[in-house]
Amino acid sequence: MSTNVTNDVVIFGLDNSKELSEQIGKVLKREIVPANKIVFADGERILSSSITVRNKNVFIICNTSKPVNDNLMDLLIFVDSLKRASAKYINVVITYYGYARQDRKVNGREPISSKLIADLLTKAGVTKIIAIDLHNPSIQGFFDIPVDDLRGQFIFSQELKSRKEKFVIVSPDHGGAVRARQLAELLQNGEEIAIIDKRRTGPNKCEIMGVLGEVENKNVVIFDDIIDTGGTIINAVKALKEKGAKKVIVAATHGLFSRGFDMFENNDLVDEVIVSNSTSQSQNLIGSNYKKLKVLSLAKFLALVIEANINKTSITEVYNAYSKRNIK
Ligand code: R5P
Repeated sequence: MSTNVTNDVVIFGLDNSKELSEQIGKVLKREIVPANKIVFADGERILSSSITVRNKNVFIICNTSKPVNDNLMDLLIFVDSLKRASAKYINVVITYYGYARQDRKVNGREPISSKLIADLLTKAGVTKIIAIDLHNPSIQGFFDIPVDDLRGQFIFSQELKSRKEKFVIVSPDHGGAVRARQLAELLQNGEEIAIIDKRRTGPNKCEIMGVLGEVENKNVVIFDDIIDTGGTIINAVKALKEKGAKKVIVAATHGLFSRGFDMFENNDLVDEVIVSNSTSQSQNLIGSNYKKLKVLSLAKFLALVIEANINKTSITEVYNAYSKRNIK
């Protein structure tokens, strides 16, 4: 892969996204530069670049999954260092945006932390955000800088198309219905969708009220943005099985797996779990012995998007290439 502009670009990979960054570097045939990082005895940290970034177009590949606050501070401090070192543009490729679920006040006196994070990143000096499957696409509007909120469905549709099977695409809640519809449309096989009627009963707790749509004797793919504790998905799997679903594949862009993967591996109702390598946790699970886990790499997709940003070309062309399976 070649880029028109080569010498004014620097791509950093933070240590929480090391594997993914290296894969992206291979596709782009570019060096991925690590950040210098020191953690002091009290937990304070300092990050900086070992090479000049003066007037450069800088990309930082990172995520703010667990430990969310440490990863976030690393990113903010590194961006601050680049701004003070006269970087011209600071593009943050944030493959998982921690705090995205705090996107509105559900009850009185609650914070909107995802807006706070947007303000912090902008204040630190970020000039562009490249994210993937933000929990709520409206988070784009929390920034007054450009945001590319990429659609993970393109990665998952490539994988599911290769299965040569027909699935009902299920959203585990009302909020994910559009996401499920987009995946169904990309599969171009007349896929139907179904929606789980879910009610949140507390932090990391939910109750299933019913299933909207036909799943009896069908193979289903439950498509969510995040698997955190796994509670939402496991409840959804049970509800779908009760309604007569056959094979159940769980797919989610961001695998946090806060309670581990065994709950899926040892669950007879789950046939397979497919996630991307957007989080440190899913990157760490690559090469594990789990038979039901498949981790899809975002490397090619993100490399094309970074290249489009460097060459000032359209992301729509990247999407079109994926829709037509025209990926070289
Ligand atoms: C919720 O709205 C999200 O889309 C996910 O369904 C949720 O964050 C998953 O969390 P957990 O795995 O803890 O149920």
